[in-house]
Amino acid sequence: MNHNQIKTEFQGDIAKITSVEEINNLRVKYLGRKGVVTLALRELGKLPQTERPKAGKALNQLQAEIRNELSKKQKELSTDKFRAIGETEKIDITVPGIAPERGSLHPVGVLISEMEDIFRRLGYSIVRTREVEDDWHNFEGLNVPADHPAKDMWDTFYVNTDSADNSRHTGRVHLSTPGEDLADERYEEELEIEKGELAGLNLLRTHTSTAQTRIMEEFKPPMKVISSGRVYRYEAEDATHLSVFHQLEGFAVDKNLTMADLKGTLTHLFQSLFGSDIKIRFRPSFFPFTEPSAEVDVTCIFCKGKGCKSCGGAGWLELLGAGMIHPNVLRNMKIDPAVWQGFAFGMGPDRIAMLRHGVDDVRQFFSGDLRFLRQL
Ligand code: FA5
Repeated sequence: MNHNQIKTEFQGDIAKITSVEEINNLRVKYLGRKGVVTLALRELGKLPQTERPKAGKALNQLQAEIRNELSKKQKELSTDKFRAIGETEKIDITVPGIAPERGSLHPVGVLISEMEDIFRRLGYSIVRTREVEDDWHNFEGLNVPADHPAKDMWDTFYVNTDSADNSRHTGRVHLSTPGEDLADERYEEELEIEKGELAGLNLLRTHTSTAQTRIMEEFKPPMKVISSGRVYRYEAEDATHLSVFHQLEGFAVDKNLTMADLKGTLTHLFQSLFGSDIKIRFRPSFFPFTEPSAEVDVTCIFCKGKGCKSCGGAGWLELLGAGMIHPNVLRNMKIDPAVWQGFAFGMGPDRIAMLRHGVDDVRQFFSGDLRFLRQL
């Protein structure tokens, strides 16, 4: 192409331009490394010696013209769209804004709030108690004496606060098998403590049943209480077990309370959460702080009792522990068991949230992976 052809084509192109992006395309087409003008300049060498200076001058002029035309056009388009900020910066006021990221509630937190609301409507008080507890409120006050074999049911994180320099050390005491290998790099300050020495140590609560001892020692019956929060157990994590997880505890102390009241309360809870066709059943069990004690199964929320993969064909899901508060616990709290009775139940909202959302690994809830949480 000679310079006249290039010029005609360029004028046609620039007349059609409506955006800044198109200007950039034209700049590449004519002035780029393989642009039309650049190539024509390179071809000059093929012309006879006599024609070269004239053609060269014309092409150089055309190159400058195209450059000017392009910046003029860019300015024209920009003045509509851009507002200059100072000398160099510009803001394109037509670009859609970037919405700020919005946080949302965690699915386990949502479930706990829903359960609390259901109980609030039944007249329960919602309380939170401490996560660092003493042995008495976690075990002994709940009828789990120091040498009781049931204490082996929970492997406990103890917090040693009585060292000479008053600094805090944490360590693990494994109660069940003395002499067992305790090697674990995470716990350098492993404490080897005899069971009898445990009473003075603080610990990370192993269950929310500590709300029973904390509340009953401070308030007089009748009372209806719900208390939820984090609990800690030294155990290997897998698809259904965490070492830091959540529990929701409920208990009531009143006159003439029976297992029927407990069953009615839990039926109401699960029907409110999962629908009126949900049933519950009690199976005999053992907890030191309840007598009688029960494992409570709930109709499988997926197959409604017919039997499916989620319930292993049983039609029932094992969701919580419950029972009538042991007379010894009431006595420990200076409440007369001849006058007052109580029921109590404790469940794991993490596992219930797994069912609700069809999640097959509880660790996913707390992996911090927002891509996972955003789906729920
Ligand atoms: C208890 O902790 C009793 N305190 C419950 C109780 C309260 C019984 C009041 C009677 C009266 P258990 O260890 O079974 O019981 O735990 C209760 C629930 O916590 C379980 O049903 C389960 O849903 C949940 N849970 C237990 N261990 C874990 C774990 N490692 N990870 C996640 N959830 C767990």
